[in-house]
Amino acid sequence: MICIAKPIIGKEEQDAILEVINSGQLVQGARVREFEARFAQLCGAEHAIATSSGTTALHIALLAHEIGVGDEVITSPFSFIASANCALYVGARPVFADIEPDYFTIDPARIEERITPRTKAILPVHLYGQACDMDPILEIARKHNLAIIEDACQAHGAMYKNRPVGSFGTACYSLYATKNITTIEGGMIVTNDTQVAERARLLRNHGSPRTYEHVILGYNMRTTDLAAAIGLVQLDKLKQWNDIRRENAAYLSANLGKLPGVVVPKIREGCEHIFHQYTIRISDRDAAAQKMRDKGVGVGIHYPTLIHKQPLYKQLGYDDSLPVAEAASREVLSLPVHPSLSKDDLKSIVDAVASL
Ligand SMILES: Cc1ncc(COP(=O)(O)O)c(C=O)c1O
Repeated sequence: MICIAKPIIGKEEQDAILEVINSGQLVQGARVREFEARFAQLCGAEHAIATSSGTTALHIALLAHEIGVGDEVITSPFSFIASANCALYVGARPVFADIEPDYFTIDPARIEERITPRTKAILPVHLYGQACDMDPILEIARKHNLAIIEDACQAHGAMYKNRPVGSFGTACYSLYATKNITTIEGGMIVTNDTQVAERARLLRNHGSPRTYEHVILGYNMRTTDLAAAIGLVQLDKLKQWNDIRRENAAYLSANLGKLPGVVVPKIREGCEHIFHQYTIRISDRDAAAQKMRDKGVGVGIHYPTLIHKQPLYKQLGYDDSLPVAEAASREVLSLPVHPSLSKDDLKSIVDAVASL
C-alpha cells in the first residue's frame, strides 16, 4: 500500500531525544527556547511560543488577542474543524465565508459581506500548504481594524509573494505526526506583537510569570523538550522535504493534468506551495477513492463535510449556503505526495488515477 502520509523520524531524532532524557531537563527548557527561536526565524517573526498542539496554539492565539464572548471571527468552512472550534472555545462565533474555486482558500471577495460590528478577526487558513490571497485580506483587516490570525497548521515554509506565511499577523502551526515537519504532537504560535506574545506565554503556562505566581487564568498547553528536540532536527530538513514534495507534485500534475475529468492543483502566482496535500478534483469522487484504495494507493478526503455542516454546528443553528466550498467538498481527493515516495510509487499513483 502506498500511504497517504508517512512521518520521517530517524536516527538523528532518536539521538536528540536520548540527549534530552539524559540531560534531565524535560519540559520548558533550553530545547524549547531554541526551537521557538528557530521557528520564529523561519516565519520572519519576532516571537514564537511552542504549544501542545495546533489546536491549543489557535485557542491561545484567540485569547491572547482578547477575543471572547459576543465576538465574531471570519474563517473558511473548508478546513479541519479546529480552525473554527478555537472561536467556540473562547465564547466567540465563527462566521464562514466561501472559498476560491481554484485555490480552496477563503475568498477575499466574500469576506466584507460577513463583517458585522462584532467582527474582531479574520482567520485565513493556508489550506494544503498554499497561502491565502493575503494582500486583499490584509487590506480588509486594515480598513475594518481586524486582527489577522493565520491558521498555518498545514503551511510550514510556504511563501506568499516573497513573504513567509506566518508573518502577516499572529500565526498558528501544527506539528502533528503527518505534517511536513512534526514533533509527534505539538504546535507553535508566531507573532510580531510583543503584547500578544507575552499573553500567549502566560496563557500556555497557567498564567504564571514565575513559579507559583498566577496573574491571569491560564492553561497547561505546554510542550516538552523531547518534542522540541525532534522539532529542531526536523526544521533542518524542512526545506529539502518541501522541495521533494514540490517535485513530486510537479510530476503528478504533468501526468494527471492531461486526463479528462481530473483537475490538478493550481499554484497561486508568485507563491510557493509546500504541498502538505496534493489535492485534485475528480468526478464521482467517492467511487474513485475506493478504487484507488483497492489498487493499493492510500488517498484522503480533505474535507468531506464542511465545518458548518458538521452535527455540532447544525446544533448551533448554522445553515449557511456556501456553494463553492460545497462543490469542493464533493470533488476533492488527496493523493500521496510525501518525500518518501519512490519514482515507482509516483508512477503507480498516476497509473491508478489513469485507470479510473
Ligand atoms: C488547518 C488545520 N488547523 C488546525 C489543525 C489542528 O492542529 P492539531 O492537530 O495539531 O491540533 C490542523 C491539524 O490537522 C489543521 O490541518
